[in-house]
Amino acid sequence: MSSTKLFKNVRLKGQKELTSILVEDGVFKKISADLPEQAGCEIIDLQGQLVIPPYVDPHMHLDYVFTAGLGEENGSGTLFEGIQRWSESKGHMTVEQMKERIYSGIRKEMLNGVQAIRTHIDVTDPTFTGLKAALEVRDEVNDILDLQIVAFPQEGMYAYKGGDELVEEALKMGADCVGAIPHFELAREFGEKSVHKAIGLAVKYDKLVDAHCDETDDTQSRFLELLNALALMEGIGTRTTASHTCSFGSADNSYAFRMMKLFKKSGINFISCPTENVYLEGRQDTYPKRRGITRVKELYDNGINVCFAQDSMSDPWYPLGNGNMMMILDHGIHLAQMMSPEEITNDLDLVTTNGAITMSITDRYGIEEGKPANFIVLDAKSEFEAICERAGITASVRHGEYLFEKIPAKVTGAIDLLK
Ligand code: FE2
Repeated sequence: MSSTKLFKNVRLKGQKELTSILVEDGVFKKISADLPEQAGCEIIDLQGQLVIPPYVDPHMHLDYVFTAGLGEENGSGTLFEGIQRWSESKGHMTVEQMKERIYSGIRKEMLNGVQAIRTHIDVTDPTFTGLKAALEVRDEVNDILDLQIVAFPQEGMYAYKGGDELVEEALKMGADCVGAIPHFELAREFGEKSVHKAIGLAVKYDKLVDAHCDETDDTQSRFLELLNALALMEGIGTRTTASHTCSFGSADNSYAFRMMKLFKKSGINFISCPTENVYLEGRQDTYPKRRGITRVKELYDNGINVCFAQDSMSDPWYPLGNGNMMMILDHGIHLAQMMSPEEITNDLDLVTTNGAITMSITDRYGIEEGKPANFIVLDAKSEFEAICERAGITASVRHGEYLFEKIPAKVTGAIDLLK
């Protein structure tokens, strides 16, 4: 028996007038201001609230969540000490323990309206504990979450002996994307070799690429240039992502000017992790202190796809993080200075549509007739209100069914006098 739902008084992005959404068998059947109420159709009044596609977190380390207290503290607060601390504490976990933490990370993100996550999983571990756990979880959550897995060599493809072979094995086991960390390799030449290897593996196994790239303030770290060039030459730019690219934020303008044109040509995607990188970078600066994030605004203004991500949740790199993409967006648009009226209207794209483009899932993402009826409802009546109030979400809907509803807090007391 087919099920139909009519969501009335819906406010869609960029539209002044309210509209209605008819969902049939989990698919957006019709989106129009004048849809008649049919017999047997469930009517849901959204009272003018803003409806947007689900949040996307395109860069997350689910195998690391809630491991901050497992080993020695990251005293320097740097990326490199974080890697060392993780290396010391990993290897003491079972697949079941790993799954438990992965699930708690996913639950936190989903309760904040996320329905698509790309997770990097450390495969510089011959037992593949994290990967086995993540692959099982990916199958188990398939109906409610788009979960992509990156075969990520946290300790290097070459700095970790046999790391390149472990990445290849992880792809054979079912990982969706090739990862890399060229700025962590022991010499520039090895870093370059790892980028060649990543692109080569992506072509060989028909996989996506997402490299941690230049996550340092060192302006000499320019692996992004090579990643983009190789992706361009192979014609896989739109399937390739450069994560972090912090050093590009410190690059000089003439270099950046030339690179922007090449990024546009390849179609490469960028992910910036604003809370993580403002915390980790600039650690060797005295004052003035760099912000540590890439050139988000310039990339955006040049028509290059860029999005924001959470990256960490209480791990050796970052002590906080709760999967709230609105908080990530809030930090990101401040750090990137993207708050003109036009920018505020479109800023939500940075944690929704642009993330979906990065993950190459746009065939099944977005509020369009014929696509799966996946969306979230914000406790706001406009994009401005959503951003200004850091609006929470009141519902997350997947295939036309509520994953959950949240009732906004009720305020009572003398403050009522101020109405
Ligand atoms: Fe990361």
